[in-house]
Amino acid sequence: MRKIIVAIDGYSACGKSTTAKLLAAKLGYSYIDTGAMYRAVTLYFLQHYIPLTDPKDILEALENIHIQFQHVAKTGKSELYLNGLNVEDEIRKMYVSDKVSEVSALPQVRKQLTEMQRKIGKKKGVVMDGRDIGTTVFPDAELKIFMTADMRVRAYRRQLELLEKKQIVDLDDIMANLEHRDHIDRTRQESPLRKALNAFEIDSTYITVEEQVDCILNLAVSKMIELEFPISKI
Ligand code: DC
Repeated sequence: MRKIIVAIDGYSACGKSTTAKLLAAKLGYSYIDTGAMYRAVTLYFLQHYIPLTDPKDILEALENIHIQFQHVAKTGKSELYLNGLNVEDEIRKMYVSDKVSEVSALPQVRKQLTEMQRKIGKKKGVVMDGRDIGTTVFPDAELKIFMTADMRVRAYRRQLELLEKKQIVDLDDIMANLEHRDHIDRTRQESPLRKALNAFEIDSTYITVEEQVDCILNLAVSKMIELEFPISKI
């Protein structure tokens, strides 16, 4: 079957990453978490005290940032390396979450990461999740998904995720962070978060991860069949 690009966009903590990871495994595709890339840039900026107001400093810093994903066969996870260091746990911490939307609103940052993501997805066979994959990074992606969920459910899921990493964070603090990020993600000038016209919307509030994965898997298989056997040729 011809390989496709599956673009999964949506709000923070709607289950995009978990769904995308499982879907990629079922399809035998690679999974790219673009949020992790924005988080890695944010971590670097914080560690090096890069002022977000100076375009020259930002460009210089970006030149020194090297991001790689490494697949861990034992866990089936893909872990992010920033300049050779595994920062998978560090980039998920709240101090990074608190700053990431501001950093990802910077045009220079978006330009650089968009180029990287396009290179990664050039050969297709990829499931990529983020905010602008179906609208900006791959506007021609064969399958686009837009995920939403109720705010309280999103915050609760994020709290459980953090707890698994031994981080105890108050539910109200998580909700405030999600609301703040939603606002910046939706209203920024460059590639704001929005549903692509031809995206399928999935509300994950009342469905399980397995149901989400099955639903997208069905859509992906239908798409591949449609591409393999176009109606015009039948
Ligand atoms: O998916 P996440 O919560 O780990 O993403 C972290 C932040 O990165 C999110 O607040 C917005 C930003 N982001 C983005 O602007 N564009 C993307 N394609 C992915 C993430």
